[in-house]
Amino acid sequence: GRDETGRIDLHNPPSGPIVLGFSQVGAESGWRLANTASIKKAAERNRVDLLFKDADGDQKRQLADIRSFIDARVTAIAFSPVVEKGYDDVLRQARDAKIPVILTDRLIETADPSLYISSIGAEFTSEGNLAAIYLENDYNGVDQTVNVVQILGTSGATPTKLRSEGFAATASRTGKLKIVASETGNWTVDGGEAAMRKLIRRVPRIDAVFAQNDDMGLGAVKALEAVGRKPGTDVRLVTVDATKKGLQSLAAGKLNYVVECSPLIGEQLMGVVVAIFLGARVEKRISSEKNVFDSDSAKDVLGDRPY
Ligand code: AHR
Repeated sequence: GRDETGRIDLHNPPSGPIVLGFSQVGAESGWRLANTASIKKAAERNRVDLLFKDADGDQKRQLADIRSFIDARVTAIAFSPVVEKGYDDVLRQARDAKIPVILTDRLIETADPSLYISSIGAEFTSEGNLAAIYLENDYNGVDQTVNVVQILGTSGATPTKLRSEGFAATASRTGKLKIVASETGNWTVDGGEAAMRKLIRRVPRIDAVFAQNDDMGLGAVKALEAVGRKPGTDVRLVTVDATKKGLQSLAAGKLNYVVECSPLIGEQLMGVVVAIFLGARVEKRISSEKNVFDSDSAKDVLGDRPY
């Protein structure tokens, strides 16, 4: 728990190594691999001993991984939740053991937000807003409504929910974009390709695709090309993440617009971990950086894109 000054009452005094237990969602996307690399590198740089576990997209496994960190009496626990619901019990156990918890990337749904001390990540709703704003602008001067299909991330995860909400909210303001169908692609290239194939079969006229991450967008490109359609030209595509592969496709004109969601939050996380260790205050919410790219700006940054 915190005392009245906002400090954390740690089970171990501030000496000796800082041990961070980190539970990662999995290795589903290019984004996720870059996120893992960022966290490992930042831990090393900040001399934080990292216990790293990969849940392989399985919440049960993630809960067991978090429990193992409690048993190991780590200094702090951080995790990127696979889905939003179902973490209260394990987080209460962490609190009882006086181990502070930090959420990274995604959020949890809980009646008791004091179960975590801080969350670090992107504002997913505005990513959805931006994706819709771009598409609307892109069709400026065109009189018809735009039939948009969505390729969603895994259900129950924060970015899936909030990117959908943001996109729909912006789209409904003018009614120009009509979301005609959605399929899940589970964040992967193969999942995105399969989802796009289904959408092509289901929807007679597809003008645009909102894929909730780059990898699924790249899968959609393959599916469209396989039926002789020209992604980026016949069908417009907007994605989120801005990985190197995504930006390469954007520069090549197969994607039209990419909203950045930075996976490079390792340093911000270690900053919080060290602050907790020293008994300093930490912010409840820390946002990561964001940019938006079109084909030209993608070309400008591709040279030194690290992931
Ligand atoms: O939670 C962030 C999302 O998870 C990324 O946008 C997606 O690529 C990843 O798998």
